[in-house]
Amino acid sequence: MKTLFAILILKTTFGVARVWNDTGVGTIVIEEAWTIPEIGVGPSIAPPGQTNEELMNNLLDVHNQRLRQMDENGIDFMVLSCVSPCIQGISDPTEAQEMAINANNQLADQIANNTLRFGGFAALSMHNATEAALELNRTVKELGFLGALVNDFQQSGSDNDTFIFYDQPDFDVFWQMVTDLDVPVYFHPRVNVPLVGNLLYGHAPWLRGPAQEFAATLSTHVLGLCTNGVFDRFPNLKIIVGHLGERIPSDLFRIGDVLLGQISQGMPMQRNVSSYWETNLFETTSGNFATDLLLFHNKTIGLDRVLFSIDYPFSNIVDGTNWVDGLSSVLNSEELLKLKRELAIDLLKLND
Ligand SMILES: *[C@@H]1O[C@H](CO)[C@@H](O)[C@H](O)[C@H]1NC(C)=O
Ligand SMILES: *[C@@H]1O[C@H](CO)[C@@H](O)[C@H](O)[C@H]1NC(C)=O
Ligand SMILES: *[C@@H]1O[C@H](CO)[C@@H](O)[C@H](O)[C@H]1NC(C)=O
Ligand SMILES: *[C@@H]1O[C@H](CO)[C@@H](O)[C@H](O)[C@H]1NC(C)=O
Ligand SMILES: *[C@@H]1O[C@H](CO)[C@@H](O)[C@H](O)[C@H]1NC(C)=O
Ligand SMILES: *[C@@H]1O[C@H](CO)[C@@H](O)[C@H](O)[C@H]1NC(C)=O
Ligand SMILES: *[C@@H]1O[C@H](CO)[C@@H](O)[C@H](O)[C@H]1NC(C)=O
Repeated sequence: MKTLFAILILKTTFGVARVWNDTGVGTIVIEEAWTIPEIGVGPSIAPPGQTNEELMNNLLDVHNQRLRQMDENGIDFMVLSCVSPCIQGISDPTEAQEMAINANNQLADQIANNTLRFGGFAALSMHNATEAALELNRTVKELGFLGALVNDFQQSGSDNDTFIFYDQPDFDVFWQMVTDLDVPVYFHPRVNVPLVGNLLYGHAPWLRGPAQEFAATLSTHVLGLCTNGVFDRFPNLKIIVGHLGERIPSDLFRIGDVLLGQISQGMPMQRNVSSYWETNLFETTSGNFATDLLLFHNKTIGLDRVLFSIDYPFSNIVDGTNWVDGLSSVLNSEELLKLKRELAIDLLKLND
């Protein structure tokens, strides 16, 4: 297995193809959480059926129950990323940068003996766009990572209440590196800091997290990338949005109509939001195994933009697998294979 790691390093040096467990039929899943003891589970709450202790064990584990369930459920390859909010929950820039490097090195170490089955997305401190760019470069070039996953906005400031969004021109240096490396960046949700959480959800705390807060907050950030012209400046940038696109592809009629009217008022965005789903944006099915919605999204953005994922350990591997396999009654075999694996192979360049 040390040899595999050597091959990985050789690949980055001499362009030798990545070796992974390509069965030709198994699934590839890419929004799958993992953690290190220093980060723990953060504010995550265990889903029904798991205690907090089990959640922690599942997040820390790579080679035991995780791999066993991959084998039992026909998952060829899984991309791991640090559990939300990970580095985006660290307000101190120095601490955040050190923890990102630490998490990335530990992830590379843990998967080094089984890169047949596991890949990594980098955790990044987003306090400083240049440092984020350099750490992404290091993880892709030296650790063989497949891209990055950011957990929505970077919190900052001594009171934790300064938010950094990546849709301003000072992040162009980061997006330049992302497009130079030609890797995707996954936009994953996070919980709001207490100030915002209390203001917006104090009246209905049940809505915090996946039911409402995640999609509401993250879709705003993604639409920020659109409206601030990031995709016009970086036409080859690839962004992945989980949970069936955090509702954006479900609401393109209204979003598109309203925003188009503002292009003449100086909004940097040059095209309609629908069109960025043809060139820049992808979605995954993580934690949102909704067949009717998937079929609707085939109409709004097309299955060329949709990848299967599970959101383990917050969603159950058996549920995700049963759902995607059951889609054989509504998708033709070409559509199903694209969803289960082919688009991921292309986007992550697994066979290049
Ligand atoms: C490849 O993945 C399949 C699941 O799709 C698993 O059953 C098989 O054991 C894996 N092979 C290796 C060598 O890991
Ligand atoms: C990789 O190392 C871990 C931790 O030592 C071990 O549990 C696992 O079985 C190893 N996997 C392979 C494929 O050698
Ligand atoms: C960001 O990091 C770079 C490289 O370390 C440094 O030169 C620059 O001054 C930093 N920018 C800010 C605003 O701290
Ligand atoms: C990116 O990483 C490679 C490999 O370590 C290095 O040679 C290159 O100089 C880095 N690029 C930048 C812009 O730092
Ligand atoms: C800011 O967040 C950190 C880490 O979550 C926490 O330890 C600290 O108490 C928070 N500071 C304030 C002023 O809320
Ligand atoms: C959005 O843009 C695309 C491509 O530029 C175009 O084909 C489509 O008609 C536009 N949709 C609307 C509602 O303007
Ligand atoms: C998905 O959309 C394409 C293009 O409109 C269509 O040909 C195909 O039949 C649709 N697939 C399903 C499963 O609805």
